[in-house]
Amino acid sequence: MTDRYCVFGHPVGHSRSPRIHAAFAEQFGDDIAYEAIEAPVDGFAEAWRDFLAHGGKGANVTVPFKEDAFRLADVLSPRAQRAGAVNTLVLGKQGDTYGDTTDGVGLVRDLQAHAAPLEGARILVLGAGGAVRGVIEPLLAAQPAVLMIANRTSGKAHQLAADFADLGETTGGGFDEIVGTFDLVVNGTSASLGGDLPPLPDDLFADAALAYDMMYGVEPTVFLRWAAERGARTVDGLGMLIEQAAESYFLWRNRRPETAPIRELLRGEM
Ligand code: ATR
Repeated sequence: MTDRYCVFGHPVGHSRSPRIHAAFAEQFGDDIAYEAIEAPVDGFAEAWRDFLAHGGKGANVTVPFKEDAFRLADVLSPRAQRAGAVNTLVLGKQGDTYGDTTDGVGLVRDLQAHAAPLEGARILVLGAGGAVRGVIEPLLAAQPAVLMIANRTSGKAHQLAADFADLGETTGGGFDEIVGTFDLVVNGTSASLGGDLPPLPDDLFADAALAYDMMYGVEPTVFLRWAAERGARTVDGLGMLIEQAAESYFLWRNRRPETAPIRELLRGEM
């Protein structure tokens, strides 16, 4: 029987995950089915159980279900525990549900693919919501000199920095507390969605700095346009999406797809 996988979201119609996973499966000649399922906002657990009852083997989980998936999992990976969110569910051999998060490793792999400054670098992360919480641990594992988290609501950035302080040099604050220049600036706010730009100092970027937006679209985000005008190299979040998908595929099927050709493919289709 064909192994079934899906992405749960609400809404989920625009998701590129089915396209990406179909392309991965093609690389290996794997016979899988991968679909997008819009679960009711208050019915995530039922949707997962129903999927399992119909041959489901694993799922990706996107907005707004990452915390639901975290609560539902019988076993959590250490990185999911730390992130407080799950983006990948795997059906275990005993019928139990394993929860993991591949977002953080996806970001770091894409940063590496773009030769981003990481080890010994000064890194600034904008935002302190769920998306940012999921990437702090792998960013710190890359051993930056310092990682600052800046957020509109400064208290949330302070809290997040404190939560990860045991893993590396981490500070938190409001946008008005940003001091110095940075080699890598990652926008993890949802400000880009509304076309907004966080109030950032004009002299934010060090020489040869990279600006990364976790969002992506046909057009560069406001943040990336702003960064390019100030001399930074810019990269959007399409690669992160593909890398987190590849890591999920590996969790399900123990094979690691090649991501570079998929990046080309999707960019071409956008
Ligand atoms: P996500 O899952 O995408 O992280 P979230 O947990 O709601 O969603 O977090 C959204 C993040 O974007 C927060 O850091 C939020 O700042 P606040 O904590 O102050 O709310 C940030 N954000 C959203 N809109 C923003 C805007 N217009 N300008 C700056 N930051 C914004």
